[in-house]
Amino acid sequence: MNETIKNSLYDRAYAAWAAERTSWWESAAEGITWDRRWDTVFDPSSGPFGRWFPGARLNTSFNCLDRHVAAGRGEQAALIWDSPMAGRIVTYTYRELTDRVAKVAGALAALGVRKGDRVVIYMPMVPEAAIAMLASARLGAIHSVVFGGFAAAELASRIADAKPKAIVSASCGLEPGRVVKYKPLLDAAIAMSPHKPDACLILQREAAIAELTPGRDHDFAAAEAAAAPHPPVSVAATDPLYILYTSGTTGRPKGVVRDNGGHAVALHNSMKMIYGIDPGDVYWAASDVGWVVGHSYVVYAPLLAGCTTVMYEGKPVGTPDPGAFWRVCAQHGVRVLFTAPTAMRAIKQQDPEGKLAAGYDLSKLEALFLAGERCDPPTAVWAHELLKRPVVDHWWQTETGWAITAGFRGYGLFPMKPGSGGRPCPGYDLHALDDNGHLLQRGETGNLSVRLPLPPGCAPTLWENDEGYRHAYISDFPGWYRTGDAGVIDADGDVSVMGRTDDIINVAGHRLSTGSMEEVLAAHQDVAECAVIGVKDELKGQTPVGLVVLKAGVNRPEADIVAELVALVRERIGPVAAFKDARVVARLPKTRSGKILRATIRRIADGEQFTVPPTIEDATALDEVGRVLGR
Ligand code: COA
Ligand code: AMP
Repeated sequence: MNETIKNSLYDRAYAAWAAERTSWWESAAEGITWDRRWDTVFDPSSGPFGRWFPGARLNTSFNCLDRHVAAGRGEQAALIWDSPMAGRIVTYTYRELTDRVAKVAGALAALGVRKGDRVVIYMPMVPEAAIAMLASARLGAIHSVVFGGFAAAELASRIADAKPKAIVSASCGLEPGRVVKYKPLLDAAIAMSPHKPDACLILQREAAIAELTPGRDHDFAAAEAAAAPHPPVSVAATDPLYILYTSGTTGRPKGVVRDNGGHAVALHNSMKMIYGIDPGDVYWAASDVGWVVGHSYVVYAPLLAGCTTVMYEGKPVGTPDPGAFWRVCAQHGVRVLFTAPTAMRAIKQQDPEGKLAAGYDLSKLEALFLAGERCDPPTAVWAHELLKRPVVDHWWQTETGWAITAGFRGYGLFPMKPGSGGRPCPGYDLHALDDNGHLLQRGETGNLSVRLPLPPGCAPTLWENDEGYRHAYISDFPGWYRTGDAGVIDADGDVSVMGRTDDIINVAGHRLSTGSMEEVLAAHQDVAECAVIGVKDELKGQTPVGLVVLKAGVNRPEADIVAELVALVRERIGPVAAFKDARVVARLPKTRSGKILRATIRRIADGEQFTVPPTIEDATALDEVGRVLGR
């Protein structure tokens, strides 16, 4: 196929969707097994912008598991757990995974978990994390997975908001060089939260056996062994499947809700359309189940599609070397690898010529997909030259649950421009708007926004907070969903995402709020005011740097205060914040109305050109910032 024809396949598919925006999804919905079909495909009158597939009923765990066993995939590998951290590789067939999920669902039911109850899951990358998610889905309960790199206070705020009936956790996680004991963090979080769960199910891992709290904690393995298998519970398509908390523009995390029906339809459809993956193929998303990529592409999408998913407990480098990803791809016959650009940069840094890849048989690998942050062109070019396979950057966010823009293996790939995240997926009417919500011309940079309704799979609301959803995403530009990303759509329709328009930064593919770090710094006894900005970083894309003004009269050594601030962010937010750098300044650059000039500070830190804003209160503050940042 030549490129023009390849291109037109995508164009035709997009045009077909654009002609029938809601009914287009009916044929995609045929990929799902329903207990009851929908009354209407889309109801614009309910929720902040409407609901998909009202009236329909299904069970997501049944669609991920039982139906594949019934269709003859029982002996096919469903999940391969590959853990260089634990030195183990374990494969579960669809039959084995279904049995374990049914038993763990039975164990949760025995602890009182019912349809609509919340189950918080705070676990490392072990199969039991995926099993707990699917078991919760089997009961029609609503899971909320919290990434293991968050500290107790962050876990506590999620427990307080989700009010779980039960929590599933593990005794420990394994990070290179250290065992992270989860149980003390869990206990501290429960102590901090005004809401207490009735029960905790604790997976004991050999590296650190935890002491269980009598009356509250139960041993995961024993509970599973004793449980009766639980059948799937039929739920409404519009019922929530999960809540995933993500950084918002304030320090308070947002509980992004995913429903059952639209999610199943969109993710199932994406496997062929975007990734070009068929049932039976091996698919590997090297992400953590604590992030949206882990939810969608470690657990749900590959299983909805009858694929084999790889779950990896390790790092791209150091476990044991920068050849780890190529070893996993070769050993398990991975067809598509999906990871964050930062992982590729880590490999490139340690093995610039990609020598280790040459030692593995990568003949089954067909494409590399990247997301989580913009892929810098040198990294995309490096990966392409090394693998000699398509490297596809695609753009999405926790709220959407699947890609907004991508390259489409299902429609024949069009050549990706370096720095571009591809073209809009059918389902997204994407435009750049100016700050007043007016459409911009192609080639003009603005607020990337999606004309409502959002497609199936995207968050219909925030947990118990329709108003918060409207305020955060759709009230700025009525009729549109504001992504929070700035970007440009060029004459060919290729989309380049330039960065966030709010206080969110991306550190090693992890979404973090500088606002929440500022809250922590401001709580320190010696800090009068502060600003946290994301500064360019060769490996992680961005890292946070704090600028603090001390209270008058504080004369303790600055180094001590900085060390305390670094420790405080680690303790309150967690190691994942990677907050390691704070500098003391006499004053912060501000406008005359008192607004801190964060964008200008960031440009100074990144060594970029900047203009001194005419509204600045005191221009010498900029010189001082430049000096302390070594610019
Ligand atoms: N539990 C506990 N601690 C965790 C953790 C977890 N699940 N995950 C990370 N941490 C800790 C790390 O141990 C590290 O702690 P340290 O400050 O004591 O070293 C800190 O959080 C930062 O971790 P990380 O972001 O992994 O940085 P790193 O320097 O250890 O590794 C990379 C750098 C690039 C190798 C790594 O960030 C990576 O693999 N990134 C890929 C990201 C990704 O997959 N994103 C998902 C979106 S697709
Ligand atoms: P998260 O919700 O954690 O997935 O983070 C979403 C944010 O990450 C987006 O709003 C973007 O700012 C950024 N992001 C994710 N993927 C890409 C990409 N391919 N290109 C540019 N930015 C991206």
